[in-house]
Amino acid sequence: MRATVDRAGLDPQGRLPKVQIRRVRKGDLSKVRDVMEQTFGDFLERQLGTRPRQAFGGAQYVHHRWLMEPWGCFVAEEDSSKIVGAALAVTWGTVGVLGPVAVLTNYHNQTIGQQLIRAAQDFFDENKATLHGCVTYPTSPKHLYLYHKFGYRPKQLTAIMSRAIDRGPARVSALAKAPVKTPLTARRFSTLEEAKKKAALVRIHRITNAVCRGMDLAKEIEIVDGLALGDTVLLERGRDVIGFAICHSPGVSEAPTGALYVKFLAIDPPQRKPEHLEQFVTLIEGFGQELGVQRVILPVYARYWVAYNVLIQCGYQIDFTMIRMQRGKQEDYEDPADLVLDDWR
Ligand SMILES: CC(C)(COP(=O)(O)OP(=O)(O)OC[C@H]1O[C@@H](n2cnc3c(N)ncnc32)[C@H](O)[C@@H]1OP(=O)(O)O)[C@@H](O)C(=O)NCCC(=O)NCCS
Repeated sequence: MRATVDRAGLDPQGRLPKVQIRRVRKGDLSKVRDVMEQTFGDFLERQLGTRPRQAFGGAQYVHHRWLMEPWGCFVAEEDSSKIVGAALAVTWGTVGVLGPVAVLTNYHNQTIGQQLIRAAQDFFDENKATLHGCVTYPTSPKHLYLYHKFGYRPKQLTAIMSRAIDRGPARVSALAKAPVKTPLTARRFSTLEEAKKKAALVRIHRITNAVCRGMDLAKEIEIVDGLALGDTVLLERGRDVIGFAICHSPGVSEAPTGALYVKFLAIDPPQRKPEHLEQFVTLIEGFGQELGVQRVILPVYARYWVAYNVLIQCGYQIDFTMIRMQRGKQEDYEDPADLVLDDWR
């Protein structure tokens, strides 16, 4: 089908097609999803030698992202009729995160990707995002070249790690030195009354702001809550929230089939003891067990070196790596001792 329908993207007279960039509309959503699946399927097939049955293992990106940030979602449309590319972007306060970006394979190298990225950049600028980032494939010269054109610098690897939780003995703590006086507990954001949700969001904003000035994850937490994509697990000591983890569970979220996926986790910097992260991971695994998933997926940016080491000690293995690209102010804001797990896919 691709061979005839998408043939080189040329019209019958051999001219380049007229491609326009516009914002995603509700009626585009399934088509955008198909374009993403198809494009990444092609890309992974070239990389791996076999085509994955589902490019993202059942994870979904389009519908809830559009509901969360409709002004950050763009399509490239040929002749006002056919969607040939798409880019999603979101602002977390002052941090703009770009991706996924996809252009149908037979339309590559016609500047469509650049036009989509430019639209996302404009969206970041309109919303005063001062730090822009994405992740990409570190071994692809094309990807590094493309993002370099927009001023993105390659930084360190992001490792997508996972651990099976359905079998094996409970993990013995490698880090706890002495019995803790006030144990850490987990509470689910969805169980709070509305007023308490607001208070929790204020507390969480203080945590993310301490990690990176101006960073705000409220809309990610609210969309997970509003659409029941999973839940945000609050790490508490006594009545104080000292950390949070935005968890997606399989279905229509960013979690692949059979896995609980943590999109963002942070522990308040003044409380950043490695054993706190270890306990938090154990609590999240307990949540995964309640949900009946087989795996927990945790992403970690290698610059968060302490967090990376804790995950290894917790038995997490690297499924694959991508490279973080960044541009703008506060480009090197990350403190290696911060206990943060964040995925910019
Ligand atoms: C990445 C992607 C979105 C780019 O879209 P695109 O429309 O092909 O990109 P553009 O044509 O705008 O730009 C590509 C640039 O890379 C250059 N390029 C192509 N192959 C290259 C290579 N091997 N080495 C260096 N540069 C290369 C092109 O010449 C062009 O630059 P130019 O306009 O200065 O000449 C597209 O390839 C895609 O969908 N890939 C699969 C999914 C994916 O990987 N998404 C991004 C994940 S981060």
